[in-house]
Order: sequence, then structure tokens, then C-alpha cells
Amino acid sequence: MSEWLSSELRTLTRLRDGFLSGNAGAADYWQSAGDVELYDRTFAQRIGWKWEAVLGELSLRGWKPSSELLVDWGCGSGIASRTVLSHWPGLFRNVSLSDRSPLALSYASARLRELEPDVAQQFGGVESASGGGALLLVSHVLTELSKEQLARLWKQAAASSALIWVESATHENSRRFVEEIRERLLATGQWRVVAPCTHSGACPMLQADQARHWCHHFARVPSEVHQDGAWREISKKLGVDLRVLPYSYLVMERNAQEPLALEPGFSRVIGEPREFKGYLKVLTCGEDGLADKVLQKRNAPALFKEVRVAETLPLYKWEEKDGRIVGGHGVGGAPEAD
Ligand SMILES: C[S@@+](CC[C@H](N)C(=O)[O-])C[C@H]1O[C@@H](n2cnc3c(N)ncnc32)[C@H](O)[C@@H]1O
Repeated sequence: MSEWLSSELRTLTRLRDGFLSGNAGAADYWQSAGDVELYDRTFAQRIGWKWEAVLGELSLRGWKPSSELLVDWGCGSGIASRTVLSHWPGLFRNVSLSDRSPLALSYASARLRELEPDVAQQFGGVESASGGGALLLVSHVLTELSKEQLARLWKQAAASSALIWVESATHENSRRFVEEIRERLLATGQWRVVAPCTHSGACPMLQADQARHWCHHFARVPSEVHQDGAWREISKKLGVDLRVLPYSYLVMERNAQEPLALEPGFSRVIGEPREFKGYLKVLTCGEDGLADKVLQKRNAPALFKEVRVAETLPLYKWEEKDGRIVGGHGVGGAPEAD
């Protein structure tokens, strides 16, 4: 017996086909309040797990926003703002919801009121958020925006005090992000990158010989999802892979006064390390560039194990010899060397 009504599966299929085809931006696809609610119970949950990964990393990096104003642009059902409000309870006084769809706005607003009745709500983008200097959230909107729409959104980003932007991890999304948002905000001279990068220099992925790479990471899918019949059915009928949850993201802030808690010299592992007999290949990105590096088990067994299981924040200070990793440590860890 199905866990879903056939009308629900049809709606989810229609939405997913639109998202994957890249044509979702052409017209408003929320046809009823039920569509938004169904999205919130399914696809938005997966997006929420990506947000939890990003926010968890920000906390581990010792970063939090300074603004009391939150703007959720292209909010849909509002999963991004709800996850952010839950992650930093009591930090925000005012949330501005923005979406082309009145159905999405109404749903997001109602859920937000349930969660945070004392947080004031407004509707509109950064311009309408009273006081300006908001923290701007953008989530899974990039593929729906034309060049002109993205340029307008960039202006909103440039007027905010910080930006957290999360997207699905396609090669195109990730590179569009970096080119159109990261590098252009940095070029104003007012912004710095908080994460995923460990520096605010030019992105090494944009160098001609790095064109095959893209900046992506993996979030954890809660273990109970794999035992859940409704999720298993979605996976089977809609082709959603429940084992992996890749995402791309960018966190930046403007006119920051304090140095970042993460000291210089760290590199970030991109994607997941690939395991071979006795060694790992690790795509690692830092101020000194992007490179596929070899980490042999015999050179640094404890580090090898830590990098392989990828349970900690994938930020490392490597020690290298002849282009190979021979030691190093993660954030807060003790150095291991041969
Ligand atoms: C895939 S949904 C993502 C919703 C939500 N941010 C999330 O992460 O779950 C994209 C949202 O962007 C909205 N949207 C698309 N183009 C837009 C535009 N030009 N202006 C405002 N909202 C837009 C859609 O209506 C939709 O609610």
C-alpha cells in the first residue's frame, strides 16, 4: 500500500521535473496551498538538512551573524529561515519573507508565526527590511533566475550585512555562484568570505586548468529516514537518492571588524576523499590553490582515519613533503607528522 496519494506523487513529480529541467523559473509553479505544504514535508526537509550542515559548520568555525534582521529571499515554504531561527534562538527580531508566489508567502508566514510568534514579520526583499543591513538567506533559487534576475538579487546581496546561500551541488550552480556572487562581492572591497573557503582571495576553481571541479560538500541524511516507508517510496518512485545529499554554499559578510576565528593556513576538503589501497586522494582547496593530494595511511595513520571517515569539519592544516600529505591536523586538533 502506498504511503502517498497518487495526486501527491503527481505533484511531487511535476515539481521535481521542473526543478531538474531548469525551467522552473519560467512561471509560478505553486498551484495550491497544498503544493507548498507537500513540498515542505518532502523536498524542503532535504534542504533543511543541508542548512543544518551549513549552520553547524558556521558554529564550529565560531561565526554568527550580527544582524537582527533576516531576509529569506525566494522563501518557498520558509525552511531556510525556520532552520536559521532555530539554530540561533533569540538572535533575530524581524524576518522579511520574499517570494513571487503569494501561496508560498502565506504558508511560510504561518509556519514562522507558529515557530516564533514574537518575531516581527514583513514581506519583501532587503530594501523593505527596516533598518537595512539584513542577513540575506537564499536557498535553491539559482536555477530559476535569469541573468537579469540574478543581477538584481546581487544588488540586494550587496546591500545586506551578510549572506548565506545554499544550493544543490551541480557543476553549473557552484560555478555560477562563485563567478556571479563570490567574486563580484569581493571586488567591491567590502566583503570577505566566511565559508566554505578558508580565505578571501580569488577562487582557484576558476583557473582554466581546474574547470572540471566544482565546490561541493555532503550533508548527513538523518538515519531514521532510511527506515521510513514514505521516504523510501519517494526515493523509488521519484528517483531521489537518499544515501547522499550534496550541496554547494557560500557565506560572506560585509564590513566585518573582527578577524575570523579560523586562523589562516587551513584548507578545505572538497567533496569526499577517494579511497585506494593504502591511500586517499583528497581534493583540497586553500589560499595556495586547489590540488588533488595523496595521503598515505603509513605516513599519518590517525589523520588518514579521520579524513577517511569524514566525521569532523573537513578543514585541515596539512604538512606536505614532495607534494604528498605527510601529517597535519583538523580545527582544534593536535598536529600529527611522520
Ligand atoms: C525551489 S523553491 C526554494 C524555496 C526555498 N528557498 C527552499 O530552499 O526550500 C524556489 C522559490 O523561489 C521562488 N522564485 C522563483 N523565482 C523568483 C523570483 N524571480 N522572485 C522571487 N521568488 C522567486 C519560487 O516561487 C519558489 O518559492
